[in-house]
Amino acid sequence: MHSEFLRPLAAIVGEAHVLTDERDTAGHFTDWRKQYYGRAECVVRPANTGEVAEIVKLCGRENVAIVPQGGNTGLSGGATPVGAQREIVLSLSRMNRIRHVDPLDDSLVAEAGCVLANVQQAAEAAGRYFPVSLAAEGSCQIGGILSTNAGGVNVLRYGNTREQVLGLEVVLPDGSVWDGLRSLRKDNTGYDLKQLFIGAEGTLGVITAAVLKMRARPSASTTAWVALETPAAAVELLGRLRDRVGECVSAFELVSRRCLEAVLAHAHDTQDPFAAVHPWYVLVELEDASTFESLQSRLEASLAECIEQGKARDAAIAASHLQAAALWRIRESIPEAQFANVKHDVSVAVSRVPLLIERAEAALAKAFPGVQSYIFGHVGDGNLHYNVGDRGLQARRSDVNRIVYDVVASLDGSISAEHGLGQLKREEIKRHKQALELELMRTLKRALDPNGLMNPGKVL
Ligand code: FAD
Ligand code: MLT
Ligand code: ZN
Repeated sequence: MHSEFLRPLAAIVGEAHVLTDERDTAGHFTDWRKQYYGRAECVVRPANTGEVAEIVKLCGRENVAIVPQGGNTGLSGGATPVGAQREIVLSLSRMNRIRHVDPLDDSLVAEAGCVLANVQQAAEAAGRYFPVSLAAEGSCQIGGILSTNAGGVNVLRYGNTREQVLGLEVVLPDGSVWDGLRSLRKDNTGYDLKQLFIGAEGTLGVITAAVLKMRARPSASTTAWVALETPAAAVELLGRLRDRVGECVSAFELVSRRCLEAVLAHAHDTQDPFAAVHPWYVLVELEDASTFESLQSRLEASLAECIEQGKARDAAIAASHLQAAALWRIRESIPEAQFANVKHDVSVAVSRVPLLIERAEAALAKAFPGVQSYIFGHVGDGNLHYNVGDRGLQARRSDVNRIVYDVVASLDGSISAEHGLGQLKREEIKRHKQALELELMRTLKRALDPNGLMNPGKVL
């Protein structure tokens, strides 16, 4: 360790956990989609909250900025250094202990570096359920999903990550540790401080642990792939299913034909669930505490009725877990099959989804004749991943973004439904948020991080 800064860092975490060799750091200096690159002085890997606090204090003294990093699966460049000032990447991966599981409180305490899939398993081992689920769950970490307030495929029934949190432990930008690890279901004692850090993308402090809610484990689930004529039919189908089966619709994911074709070309272990070609599909999952047979027969009856009335074109209900997994494999392969296009993660009120697609398609076709959209996403939450074109269109990315975001704005929607702002949308958000909202955010940032050392160049 040669630099005056790296030596005290190594004294805190041990020399082996201050990475400077390019072979070790390269993966930390770029994002999952390889859209952003930024060098930092090192990657530091603390083992516990005390070490994080010491690192933050040292960085404060040396005026070095901190980029918190979890599984580095974020899609907005939030975990990649910007490189405009001295920076370190603070990797939470070693802080991967489940500190406590309490089935009676229905909660568990997980450190920030716990991989999401491991938290799901810990809940399952206790006979309970942790419902946040997304295709990156084998890599993304609790600190990352909390800091982006990730959505995923179960928001419809259980809410976003924010709704799964009872308490937090956070190292603040001055190095002090806020112990908010309470598992209270009710606590009206002033401002709900934990909410400040959830979705803050590491700009207000470092989340080191969280008390997470567990849920009753559904005893049955059933999955279907439904072919539809239009996105409007998808919205209508969701309403009908809710009428017939109540709140047990846990996932309702839209997939366009073009997305399905991209997956079939990319993931060779997938196959089209139908022999015929259809323009749109939804992947539906129901879960509750009944039996597989009961749930399946209710889904079958509802879908049969929709097909009879011409509201759906066809439906395939998975007869086994294996078949259900094959349907999910199609849905979860879309991000990888759509690696290089111009992405949008937008939301509108659910009823406006068809209008969003109609208007955006018309505006894109006018500006870019022949351009192809790859539309999919969490239609049950009004959240579409509206991907456009291929790698060749990246050079015109800001023009494409402008078209889609203007349509979203015309429908009172959001330009970032679940992936956060990071560096990707830091400038664009200024066109969409009220001046007063931005000023309130800046006031909070100044109050908590007056020296601007927490993840600079992100969000604001
Ligand atoms: P990172 O990428 O490491 O970091 C994300 C942000 O959080 C950065 O700003 C970082 O600085 C900050 N951060 C990380 N850890 C901490 C911490 N301990 N304290 C403070 N700040 C921290 N997102 C969805 O919402 N829904 C999806 O369905 C979904 N599917 C995905 C599928 C794939 C294949 C991929 C690659 C990504 C997907 N995502 C999805 C993106 C999503 O944001 C991430 O997967 C996840 O939320 C990020 O977790 P991470 O640990 O990788 O965070
Ligand atoms: C998804 O829903 O699959 C994700 O949010 C990832 C993506 O948009 O690519
Ligand atoms: Zn998504």
